[in-house]
Amino acid sequence: MRLASQDGVFSWLILLLLSCTTLFSSSAFGKTENNTNIAVFLSPKIELSPGLVSNKYYYDVEFPRGHIALKSFNAEVVDEAGNSVPLEETYLHHWVVVKYHQPKNVSHNNSLSGIVVVRNSGLCEDDTLGQYYGLGSETRGTATDIPDPFGIVVGDPAEIPYGYEEKWLINVHAIDTRGVEDRMGCTECRCDLYNVTKDENGKPLSPDYKGGLLCCTDNTKCRLKKGFQGPKRNLYLRYTVKWINWDSFVVPLKIYIVDVTDTLNISKGMVPRHNCKVEYDVEGCRQGHKNSSGCIDVRRTNLPMQTGGYVIYGVGHQHSGAIGSTLYGQDGRVICSSTAIYGNGTEAGNEKGYVVGMSTCYPQPGSVKISNGETLTLEVIYNNTEMHTGVMGLFYYLVAEQLPHQHT
Ligand SMILES: *[C@@H]1O[C@H](CO)[C@@H](O)[C@H](O)[C@H]1NC(C)=O
Ligand SMILES: *[C@@H]1O[C@H](CO)[C@@H](O)[C@H](O)[C@H]1NC(C)=O
Ligand SMILES: *[C@@H]1O[C@H](CO)[C@@H](O)[C@H](O)[C@H]1NC(C)=O
Ligand SMILES: *[C@@H]1O[C@H](CO)[C@@H](O)[C@H](O)[C@H]1NC(C)=O
Ligand SMILES: *[C@@H]1O[C@H](CO)[C@@H](O)[C@H](O)[C@H]1NC(C)=O
Ligand SMILES: *[C@@H]1O[C@H](CO)[C@@H](O)[C@H](O)[C@H]1NC(C)=O
Ligand SMILES: *[C@@H]1O[C@H](CO)[C@@H](O)[C@H](O)[C@H]1NC(C)=O
Ligand SMILES: *[C@@H]1O[C@H](CO)[C@@H](O)[C@H](O)[C@H]1NC(C)=O
Repeated sequence: MRLASQDGVFSWLILLLLSCTTLFSSSAFGKTENNTNIAVFLSPKIELSPGLVSNKYYYDVEFPRGHIALKSFNAEVVDEAGNSVPLEETYLHHWVVVKYHQPKNVSHNNSLSGIVVVRNSGLCEDDTLGQYYGLGSETRGTATDIPDPFGIVVGDPAEIPYGYEEKWLINVHAIDTRGVEDRMGCTECRCDLYNVTKDENGKPLSPDYKGGLLCCTDNTKCRLKKGFQGPKRNLYLRYTVKWINWDSFVVPLKIYIVDVTDTLNISKGMVPRHNCKVEYDVEGCRQGHKNSSGCIDVRRTNLPMQTGGYVIYGVGHQHSGAIGSTLYGQDGRVICSSTAIYGNGTEAGNEKGYVVGMSTCYPQPGSVKISNGETLTLEVIYNNTEMHTGVMGLFYYLVAEQLPHQHT
């Protein structure tokens, strides 16, 4: 069922696979404030049972259409009744939203042939970290709103090649940790808990590879407590998108994602190549990896920005054990610092021991500028009292290349 009404003042659109009344309270229905459209969508059904991993790519998902400026994207995992599912039951490792162009002439049966991912403005290579949006366990407590008059402009007909249409895919990686032997170990994709020794192509993993995405691929299962049995359940990623229709007052933002594992390969006479490994391990400080200022693991990388601009929004992405991360300018000034927020309860959005939010930066537009060619430093800090496998150190920031009053 799909309901849509668009008259400029009041506009909403909703996709429900089930009944509206059981899934949503009335507050979930879109209202319009200052011409902002709001829509709530559900991903395809995610089927889970205790210990099971679902890591699926959903192509051509529901998404606002037309030439628009995105203002926010929020998501969470819900059950069939529309209730929020706590991270202790279903750990949301990540979700990412990716834009792509699809040839109009292919049949639906073969809908992936000829698709071209349209990545963000960088900095990794190819399709790595090319998403427009993406978060993990922190999704319920992390603001993504973009202040006026800025927006992420999509659906611009001038940017869609002839014969193609713009579509969106969502990758959702969720781990059902009901009844598992080691909840944190499962969320950190420890290979021993998943009994995984080979990658998806059957190639043996290096004995040094203790955990990470290669060990919690789709349909793998984390070890359960002896004799534990629990029901299968159907879950959804419920995502809420806010947007405004494009007009000439909208100032477009560019999306950047930097990765602390990125090691630039600068060879003479070649365009520098980024090498983003996305994940890394944090050794426990008991094994001697102790910083003079305590059990903390500090990583840094330096990355030149070809094109600069004004930072409008920034946020870090880290996993459990996170303390925070900071993006510095070449002169050492802080561009944005984002700290991890932990829950202290049991309810969804406040789960004890989990990163339930990341603080965000909203500098006064114009006050934080990155120069063309400036080298930024990303510093990512984890608490390494315990070791952690498969952690991430990403920083997502939005840049306006010009300010509203500079418009011509
Ligand atoms: C809507 O506009 C009014 C007046 O400009 C402003 O006070 C209010 O904060 C805006 N609301 C939102 C959600 O942007
Ligand atoms: C579809 O269009 C693309 C690009 O225009 C072209 O390369 C391809 O051969 C076409 N495929 C079919 C089945 O017509
Ligand atoms: C395409 O899919 C439809 C329905 O799933 C099926 O009936 C049809 O035979 C398929 N066509 C081809 C060319 O595979
Ligand atoms: C782990 O994998 C090995 C080899 O694939 C298999 O023989 C063994 O039964 C598995 N153990 C469990 C607990 O699933
Ligand atoms: C760096 O790039 C050069 C040229 O493309 C390549 O030969 C070399 O293997 C690369 N080095 C690393 C460490 O990836
Ligand atoms: C130790 O931590 C501090 C931050 O508190 C950092 O500046 C320093 O580089 C770290 N040392 C090492 C060896 O990682
Ligand atoms: C969690 O922290 C909040 C704010 O610090 C506090 O008010 C609340 O009592 C704490 N809840 C629990 C269950 O500890
Ligand atoms: C690191 O985590 C341990 C518990 O695992 C805690 O006792 C300690 O205070 C934390 N340290 C910092 C710097 O957050």
